[in-house]
Amino acid sequence: DAPAPRDRLGRPLRDLRVSVIETCNFRCPYCMPADSTPPDGTLGRAGRLDFDEIETAVRAFARLGVSKLRLTGGEPLLRKDLPDLVARLVRVPGITDLALTTNGALLAGQARALREAGLSRLTVSLDALDPALFRELTGGRGELADVLAGIAAAEAAGFESLKINCVVQRGVNQSQVLALAGHFRGTPHVLRFIEFMDVGNCNRWQAANVVPSRELHDTIAARWPLRPLREAYRGEVASRHAYADGAGEVGFVSSVSEPFCGDCHRARLSADGQLFTCLFAGRGLPLREAIAAGEDTVAERLREAWLARADRYSEQRAAGAGKGRRIEMYFIGG
Ligand code: GTP
Ligand code: 5AD
Ligand code: SF4
Ligand code: SF4
Repeated sequence: DAPAPRDRLGRPLRDLRVSVIETCNFRCPYCMPADSTPPDGTLGRAGRLDFDEIETAVRAFARLGVSKLRLTGGEPLLRKDLPDLVARLVRVPGITDLALTTNGALLAGQARALREAGLSRLTVSLDALDPALFRELTGGRGELADVLAGIAAAEAAGFESLKINCVVQRGVNQSQVLALAGHFRGTPHVLRFIEFMDVGNCNRWQAANVVPSRELHDTIAARWPLRPLREAYRGEVASRHAYADGAGEVGFVSSVSEPFCGDCHRARLSADGQLFTCLFAGRGLPLREAIAAGEDTVAERLREAWLARADRYSEQRAAGAGKGRRIEMYFIGG
């Protein structure tokens, strides 16, 4: 193979997120508001890449330099036989890290099978510890107890350190910040607070609802002093902080207040086989035909697309760029 491509801003391709399904069992208002989302299963079975197709695509991505792979959705645990896919993808040459992002509702029943299939890491979304607020934040579809049971099952299955993601919205779940920090302090899990982003077109994002990471950091540090940690790898999305008393670690993802496009090595593959080179892209590049032609053809298409890439939306937003039509987050994964 030719050397790994760099995009127009000099960035290599290292990280791939594959959405395995475009539907979800939750309706979080910041992602998939119930009143403006199409009915479940819009793509249907035939519209989604099957496991052979996903594996072919991943092999091609790995040849271009991808070593980190994350499975997302929608909600990936809704995809039938997901552990079989995991078992296939961990064997792809070049893939050294396979993670999965889930809302946790179905995790209790699947954690062990995923671990046995070779999944390396799990990230669970959790926006509130108050059961009533949690229910509200999932559009009335989620039960906090199920997610906590999922976390416990993941621990029991041998996932030592989970990541827990909390999207914070001003006036919505800011009250949960210290409760969540207190809950996960002293555990091996790493809680990360994520700034509410203007992804997609349907989540009614307003700048006033973003709580900047600096403010969250100061709220937590006032209670439990923090000290900054160095990034674990180049281009890490979350900034890491340790509790000064040794009770573990907490992180902040600041894509609104401190965009990190300069180090963005991520590509996304939607469940229907389109390549998205930015979370905020208006359109994707359909790859399904190339996938049918085989790994070499996919690798060629990917190389062309990556060489042409110049995405840096979060930096442009910070500079006052306007808003066009964009793909929804649940369609391409987090
Ligand atoms: P690790 O490999 O465990 O470090 O994962 P990660 O932190 O890269 O992944 P995760 O998917 O958990 O990212 C956390 C959150 O950061 C996501 O839910 C998004 O809200 C946000 N995020 C991730 N990648 C990007 C990106 O490329 N651009 C922007 N703007 N936000 C991102
Ligand atoms: N802003 C920030 N993060 C978001 N996510 C979904 N929508 C948004 C948004 N508008 C996050 C979820 C989850 C991951 C899949 O993406 O909270 O952690
Ligand atoms: Fe589903 Fe995750 Fe979107 Fe919530 S944030 S609707 S759990 S995909
Ligand atoms: Fe990467 Fe686009 Fe996010 Fe910037 S806004 S970090 S280019 S995905």
